[in-house]
Amino acid sequence: MNGLSEKLSAIKQEILDGMESLDSSKAVYEFKKTFLDSKNGKIGQLMKEMKNIPPAEKAEYGKNVNALKTWATEQFDEMDARMKEKELLLRYENEKIDISMPAQKIVPGNLHPITLIKNQLIDIFASMGFEVFEGAEIETDYYNFTALNTPQDHPARDMQDTFYLTQEFLLRTQTSAGQIHVMENTAPPIKILSPGRVFRSDDDATHSPMFSQMEGLVVDKGITLCDLKGMLDVLVQKIFGEGTTTRLRPSYFPFTEPSVEVDVSCFECGGKGCKLCKGTGWIEVLGAGVVNKKVLEVCGIDSDEYSGFAFGIGIERLAMLKYGINNIKLLFESDMRVLSQLNDD
Ligand code: DAH
Repeated sequence: MNGLSEKLSAIKQEILDGMESLDSSKAVYEFKKTFLDSKNGKIGQLMKEMKNIPPAEKAEYGKNVNALKTWATEQFDEMDARMKEKELLLRYENEKIDISMPAQKIVPGNLHPITLIKNQLIDIFASMGFEVFEGAEIETDYYNFTALNTPQDHPARDMQDTFYLTQEFLLRTQTSAGQIHVMENTAPPIKILSPGRVFRSDDDATHSPMFSQMEGLVVDKGITLCDLKGMLDVLVQKIFGEGTTTRLRPSYFPFTEPSVEVDVSCFECGGKGCKLCKGTGWIEVLGAGVVNKKVLEVCGIDSDEYSGFAFGIGIERLAMLKYGINNIKLLFESDMRVLSQLNDD
């Protein structure tokens, strides 16, 4: 039979030798294919030879080749099972969880101090009936300045070094721009609060090119500076504690007449004079005033029938006072060592 039995023995030996170096089920599969693949495997090819074997020898040939095939299949199956078991054990080992290991401490997050103060202010004003209006950060020169009674050559434009995007568009320098949008679109009575980011070319320990303001506007019949003062007293007591009072000092803003700078009695020393209030007993917290008649008129509101007051609060400044921070950058750096100290817990 043309050396068939030698051929079969050689294949058998080849299988036995090759199996010694197999180290994974994948390797077993590949190796198995080189023998048992019905098209290209060495045993597969022997099976295909069958058709060329003379009829008299066919039975013997088939029996021998089949015996080898069965033997080889068993070998590979056994090897495959062993490899799979070894791989499973390895996977169990790698995926093992040490339940006795101490858990990593989860530090809960907190709202940023600016957000906390903003939310607190919104809550206070909402309880007084104010509605929130969110203006846009990109404004036109008209809304940011002109309609707020700040003509082209007005010195107030220099006070607020502006980031111009084009000749017409700019990054708003003040949330006051929102006042105009609201008055243009709403008939009095108006009572709105407009929080938002503003931008100025200003950068030192107490100024940042981007900061947050909260604008307030009330327009109705018979509104006076006394209404402003009454509202401010309620506000500062809620923020700084009972017993805090306000003081109005004359100031200047083009969109209010009269304009005032609002001080609160020092919440640190109660007004006796300390480092925080620089010995004066008072701390400046916001700008405000009675809405200039020209501004009402520009928005189509009859200034003989209606009057209003407005105010603008710097949120970072309030945060710095409240938490005793002397550098505004600490509020923008997101340093957890700093921020974790700045909360009300
Ligand atoms: N817009 C002013 C500023 O950025 C703050 C301000 C002052 C707003 C007086 C007002 C106001 O509404 O009445 O400095």
